[in-house]
Amino acid sequence: MATRKPLISGNWKMNLNHFEAIQLVQKLSYGLTKDDIDAVDVSIHPPFTDIRSVQTVLEADKIPIALGAQNCHWEVKGAFTGEIAPSMLAKLNVTYVICGHSERRELMGETNEMVNKKIKAITKAEMTAIMACGETLEQREAGEVESHLTTQLTEGLAGVKADTVASMVIAYEPIWAIGTGVTATPEDAQDTCKLVRKTVEDLYNKATADSVRIQYGGSVKPGTAPELMSQPDIDGALIGGAALSAEDFAHCIQYRLR
Ligand code: 13P
Repeated sequence: MATRKPLISGNWKMNLNHFEAIQLVQKLSYGLTKDDIDAVDVSIHPPFTDIRSVQTVLEADKIPIALGAQNCHWEVKGAFTGEIAPSMLAKLNVTYVICGHSERRELMGETNEMVNKKIKAITKAEMTAIMACGETLEQREAGEVESHLTTQLTEGLAGVKADTVASMVIAYEPIWAIGTGVTATPEDAQDTCKLVRKTVEDLYNKATADSVRIQYGGSVKPGTAPELMSQPDIDGALIGGAALSAEDFAHCIQYRLR
């Protein structure tokens, strides 16, 4: 089986201005040792207005944390007021771009088709897509987790090449666990991440499924990270609230020590 280096990502959502962003990154860098960052990949996803400032700090202080974005448009340029093109992010040395976050799907009407176009555009701009997927509580209670995730993955990945999928990231985030303080149990999170991997195998092949990194997201905290991260099909975490505290995020990154 392929060895997959864990990826711990902090999704700041619509929080922190660029001054606050710089402070958080500096504080975070003091809390991490070289060993911590050798063992896992780490990315942070600030709001667009912070990205240039965060890039400058990461590069000036040689902090080995990858820069990420929370979204982008799929077009290269043009009359799309308020949107950001993938190449603009790539120019700021952004490595990872989240697409299809449930908040964008639910609040901004992002569809699987849009997610699909974004994945292709992110890849074309030589960045890595973190494609988010996950079910609502109603879908879980109705026994629709498998059919819902299969649809999200099939439509979201339509026409995306196997080698792209092999090197991308899928974040499984059950909507009922996001920002609620309710984390999926490690067993439930493992079962569903395994299901995601199996779906990738069915859509592509075993090598692709063995290689794609699957993150769990939804109320991950320093206390819950170690057990979640020890599950065989969980290769990282996409963290919201706890990523806004340098101490908590560092502790999540150091899950092996806890
Ligand atoms: P919380 O960690 O705040 O539940 O957010 C999870 C999330 O949505 C990350 O993208």
